[in-house]
Amino acid sequence: MSGVPAQPQARSPAPLPASAPPVATPLAAMPPVATSLAATTAAPSPTTSPLPASSPAAWPASAGDAPMPDPSAPAPSASPAQPVLLVRDLTVRFERGGRRFNAVDGVSFAVAPGETLGLVGESGSGKTTIGRAILQLLPQGSTVEGAVLHEGVALNTLSAAALRARRARLQMIFQDPVSSFNPRRAVEEIVAEGLAIQGLPRAERTRRVEAALADVGMSREAVRGRRPHQFSGGQCQRIAIARALAVGPELIVCDEPVASLDVSVQAQVINLLGDIRARRALALIFISHDLAVVRNVSDRVAVLYLGRIVEIGTNDALYARPAHPYTRMLLDAVPVPDASRRLVPAAVPAEMPSRLAPPSGCRFRTRCPRAQSLCAEAEPQLRPVPAGQQVACHFPHDEPAPGAA
Ligand SMILES: Nc1ncnc2c1ncn2[C@@H]1O[C@H](COP(=O)(O)OP(=O)(O)O)[C@@H](O)[C@H]1O
Ligand code: SF4
Ligand SMILES: [Mg+2]
Repeated sequence: MSGVPAQPQARSPAPLPASAPPVATPLAAMPPVATSLAATTAAPSPTTSPLPASSPAAWPASAGDAPMPDPSAPAPSASPAQPVLLVRDLTVRFERGGRRFNAVDGVSFAVAPGETLGLVGESGSGKTTIGRAILQLLPQGSTVEGAVLHEGVALNTLSAAALRARRARLQMIFQDPVSSFNPRRAVEEIVAEGLAIQGLPRAERTRRVEAALADVGMSREAVRGRRPHQFSGGQCQRIAIARALAVGPELIVCDEPVASLDVSVQAQVINLLGDIRARRALALIFISHDLAVVRNVSDRVAVLYLGRIVEIGTNDALYARPAHPYTRMLLDAVPVPDASRRLVPAAVPAEMPSRLAPPSGCRFRTRCPRAQSLCAEAEPQLRPVPAGQQVACHFPHDEPAPGAA
């Protein structure tokens, strides 16, 4: 495997940078997928500044399963219309107490080169499972349907060797980086893990480790001979980011990368990711339970509830005019200085229902202040609303309230 560890276990919207990549790659424009995966595979919100304006280079030419890219080499130009990643109708089933349930249920989205997509939802909504499904890192016994395509190639169709080569270009970092490190290894070896697997010569490995450490603000001298436990949580997350960067990825799935860090360190790591993204024209999927954190890093945001996307759109649309009652509930959970500016009353009704028996119709209806009888009868599908985003709700906030004349 590459640098991916084996199995570790309402404020005003920030404008998009002028040079931001295309942010709404329509699924309709994607190549058709014939393949169906039927694989059974092996805190408080930080006060961060918005990401710096980025100038992502064009998408590198399709390299198939060619040798690992050199992250310091300039990216060749190609059609910017091609998404770096396409997830289509992804469904992941797990088993609990002898019963199977859908942890992820028909999720589709695309990520453009250099784009950051935020993936937000409460604990248990399926965020990590989506990340692991993208990297083909789901545990034994899980069942996957749908497709994950990198440059149009369905990842589940690849041989083990071809998948290893792809993993150099699709990386993942985790909430707890330390658990993904081999504690007996020195930091330099950890950062070089993916490079060693790819069989690069020692001199080239050393050069790339040095460059990746420099990208996260660490020098080789500072880490030489030291092991992960000698570093702070924030430094360990930097080391994990360096390990992912060393192999020259085009996309990194960042799974709650700051959730276990102090608030001041959270801001540093978020800003670091923003800098790296701009410098390397990296696409990111930024997973968080906190809409405030995601706002500072994303071009677009997808809101997940019980395994389904209930709202997806640009930051501008989603934060200015959140249309799904669940998005409003999450935003309402973000502390604001003046409680009178809340979008909805602070009360959050009921807990998340059981995954084993989700409610009929709209699965958010047991917590929704706008629920009507239709909501129990028909499951709402994603559809565009006037503000520009897509929303899976019969009575979104962007439209007249239920019962209005
Ligand atoms: N390996 C597994 N086996 C069984 N259930 C799992 C497994 N991994 C996750 N789940 C369940 O799947 C659901 C989604 O989990 P997860 O993707 O970790 O959510 P999130 O990252 O949004 O907190 C949860 O109900 C969780 O308990
Ligand atoms: S469909 Fe009905 S229950 Fe579901 S979010 Fe919309 S108004 Fe609420
Ligand atoms: Mg998670």
